[in-house]
Amino acid sequence: MSGNAAQVEFSRENLENVLKRRFFFAPAFEIYGGVSGLYDYGPPGCSFQANVIDIWRKHFVLEEDMLEVDTTMLTPYEVLKTSGHVDKFSDDMCRDLKTGEIFRADHLVEEVLESRLKGDKQARGLVSDADSDAKEDADKKKRKKKVKEIKAVKLDDEVVKEYESVLAKIDGYNGDQLGELMVKYNIGNPVTGEPLEAPKAFNLMFETAIGPSGQLKGYLRPETAQGQFLNFNKLYDFNNLKMPFASAAIGKSFRNEISPRAGLLRVREFLMAEIEHFVDPEDKKHERFHEVSDVKLSFLPSTVQESGSTTPIETTIGEAVKSGLVDNETLGYFIARIYQFLVKIGVDPKRCRFRQHMANEMAHYATDCWDAELQTSYGWVECVGCADRSAYDLTVHANKTKEKLVVRQKLDEPITVTKYELDLEKKKFGPKFRKNAPLVEEWLTSRSQDELVKLKEELSSNGKITFKIPEIEDQIELDNTFIAIEQRTKVEHVREYTPNVIEPSFGIGRIIYSIFEHTFWSRAEATERAVLSFPPIVAPTKVLLVPLSNSKELQPIVKEISRTLRKEQIPFKVDDSGASIGKRYARNDELGTPFGVTIDFESVEDGSVTLRERDSTKQVRGEVKDIIKAIREITYNNISWEEGTKDLKPFETKVDEE
Ligand code: ATP
Ligand code: GLY
Repeated sequence: MSGNAAQVEFSRENLENVLKRRFFFAPAFEIYGGVSGLYDYGPPGCSFQANVIDIWRKHFVLEEDMLEVDTTMLTPYEVLKTSGHVDKFSDDMCRDLKTGEIFRADHLVEEVLESRLKGDKQARGLVSDADSDAKEDADKKKRKKKVKEIKAVKLDDEVVKEYESVLAKIDGYNGDQLGELMVKYNIGNPVTGEPLEAPKAFNLMFETAIGPSGQLKGYLRPETAQGQFLNFNKLYDFNNLKMPFASAAIGKSFRNEISPRAGLLRVREFLMAEIEHFVDPEDKKHERFHEVSDVKLSFLPSTVQESGSTTPIETTIGEAVKSGLVDNETLGYFIARIYQFLVKIGVDPKRCRFRQHMANEMAHYATDCWDAELQTSYGWVECVGCADRSAYDLTVHANKTKEKLVVRQKLDEPITVTKYELDLEKKKFGPKFRKNAPLVEEWLTSRSQDELVKLKEELSSNGKITFKIPEIEDQIELDNTFIAIEQRTKVEHVREYTPNVIEPSFGIGRIIYSIFEHTFWSRAEATERAVLSFPPIVAPTKVLLVPLSNSKELQPIVKEISRTLRKEQIPFKVDDSGASIGKRYARNDELGTPFGVTIDFESVEDGSVTLRERDSTKQVRGEVKDIIKAIREITYNNISWEEGTKDLKPFETKVDEE
């Protein structure tokens, strides 16, 4: 599409007005006062989302022959206890004991320090456009109702540096560290200034009971991933026991966010699209990596953030993997493919970066993670997480269920393997441990090789081993009449391993909102005329049919074109209201409709119509079949406007200024 060079400054308020007025989305249960973090999508929002999902399926599932599954949202307690979510899936919150208000600790520290830095800039006269800051502040106040006004207070240079360094590392602090920062920088309730309770972990999962007895505790899933892991054996089998392979799932996930205040960016029920790519831990090469190795990206590694900086490194994914910045080809391949997907659906490439998680920030299951972050008026927002979950999930579920979740690879040449093995005198376990005997046996048989080495040393030096199991109160002691640990050498014809998992995880709502911001602009000649420059492939409606007048003569042509568009499955709308053509186009620019077709009295005479392009407002004229061909090629075959309309006649008109 043509560029949108002459623009006025972005205003979130204007965008929100358009999105609300045209019912892209709206607060759920609005006439009951709404509930924070819950939204409904209206017709254009629904079509936009469906198009994004359609492209996601084509870009990932079809292109890579992934195995899509649809697994349940209701998940039993045991699954999420085993996965670690019951114990660790939390954010830190702090409460104001006087007002009862609750804040998410990291967001509070971030917000307060950012506003102090802004105040410092104002005091130093460094704010280039004081009005825009004041306006942003007013916007914020309207949105959040309770936000302390920014005070123009100059800070010491050292303090400014310290605040900037804390902000660069803000995602890496744990609850205790956030509590220390709140004390150190005197951060309390941002409106009243009153001190808050120290941060406390709050589990983000929605708890429920499955079935009428209330006995089977469950949760609404916080991610689609677990359903994919639990089906690993069936998927591996379906894939004819071939590795590597990926599964994929699209579906709702739920998180009881502490204080959701950023529209679609932080909600409590959201659509996720997730891929679990299962790979040999000893070979994380990707056979299609060469196809993306030249893709240039912006990287923000953990080491840069830990040094207090947010300046990214620009390099190709090929170089990033070669230098070790990105750990392996598979992770690198997905990072580049995520970028290509985002750009295809309308993300501004200049406002996309990949930020690596710092050690403290990583989810409990991850060994490395790069987030695709998109820049919005709310700052840089994580929209896609790309994590290396190693063998964590398959291992914990296999240990818990005793179901092997492994790959068995037949070896061309047999190998000799030396391993520590455990011999248990099982008949002695029952009398000693009674009902706890299976628990003790399970604990022993799930020890790793390293742990067996340590236990063997203990057994040799003390004649016994002692250990604790969470489910059993007393310490357990076993002497060498119960247990022996021996090193044995065997010839193996099969290599058995637990695959590692590379997981790209997409939050569809966050991506959609970021695209709204990246594609929204207003025409310089008439600032009230807003445009959403969606790529045609994702636009909710592709064509607006505009008869010049209500004259009966034009109606058969409108009907005929409608029939053809319907047959071709090109989404369109007819606007035969009495408004001027300029107004009708302006209304559809707001919906991001990329093409307009005008039917006039010349059309009755010679069958020609006018095709108008949304961003440039350029128009061309031609026969209906050629115009529809151009629309189809530009929309679905990624052909440019210039190329797609090169055989059509340019057409001059003033209608856009009406
Ligand atoms: P944050 O730190 O912003 O809370 P997160 O690290 O918890 O996000 P992940 O657990 O990595 O996010 O979730 C994977 C993806 O799901 C994110 O990249 C994001 O796009 C989406 N997502 C997560 N939480 C939400 C939410 N509350 N609302 C909308 N999308 C979300
Ligand atoms: N499945 C990735 C996440 O929930 O973060």
